[in-house]
Amino acid sequence: MDVASAVKSMLAVRVYQDRPIADEVVTRIVEAARLTGSSRNRQDWDFVVVRSRDTLQKLGTLASTGPFIADAALAIAVVVPDAPVGYIDGARAAQDMMLVAWGEGIGSNWVGNMNKPEIKALLGIPAEKMVLTVIPFGYPAKKVGAGRKERKPLAEIAHDETFGVAYSG
Ligand SMILES: Cc1cc2nc3c(=O)[nH]c(=O)nc-3n(C[C@H](O)[C@H](O)[C@H](O)COP(=O)(O)O)c2cc1C
Repeated sequence: MDVASAVKSMLAVRVYQDRPIADEVVTRIVEAARLTGSSRNRQDWDFVVVRSRDTLQKLGTLASTGPFIADAALAIAVVVPDAPVGYIDGARAAQDMMLVAWGEGIGSNWVGNMNKPEIKALLGIPAEKMVLTVIPFGYPAKKVGAGRKERKPLAEIAHDETFGVAYSG
């Protein structure tokens, strides 16, 4: 799948098949994070790869806005410094992992509100670090690409040379 098609078709996936993700595919997903560019190339980030059903279920219980983590085949915690640059670097790495997974036919979704002491304790993450997100991954239970993407029209959000002048192509 080319990059533009991946961006066009990728949707949040919250319902997963009960099907494992092969180890080499998991590695390709995490590798996407490693290869992402970061501010001043600091690479000040860590990625906790979770495949244990027991831990996934515990994460699902602790995630108020992401209980579906419990049913995922994989979850990756994105751990960064608690600073704007950390959020930016981590978000870029997260998106690259999600896009590479999508190219492999695997769905995912950003889950927020995960910077909790219980989650850090569960995953052995130092207290001073920020858990930016925990992203669940899994083969989608529904057909990929079948969902509708609801987005504002381009002319509403893109401006031609000057803010307020609608971009018209
Ligand atoms: C910063 C951020 C936080 C999000 N937090 C959650 C969340 O906690 N739970 C959830 O189910 N989806 C979460 N989402 C997913 C959004 O709901 C989703 O990207 C949006 O609705 C668009 O979905 P679509 O691509 O399927 O159209 C989050 C997305 C972002 C970018």
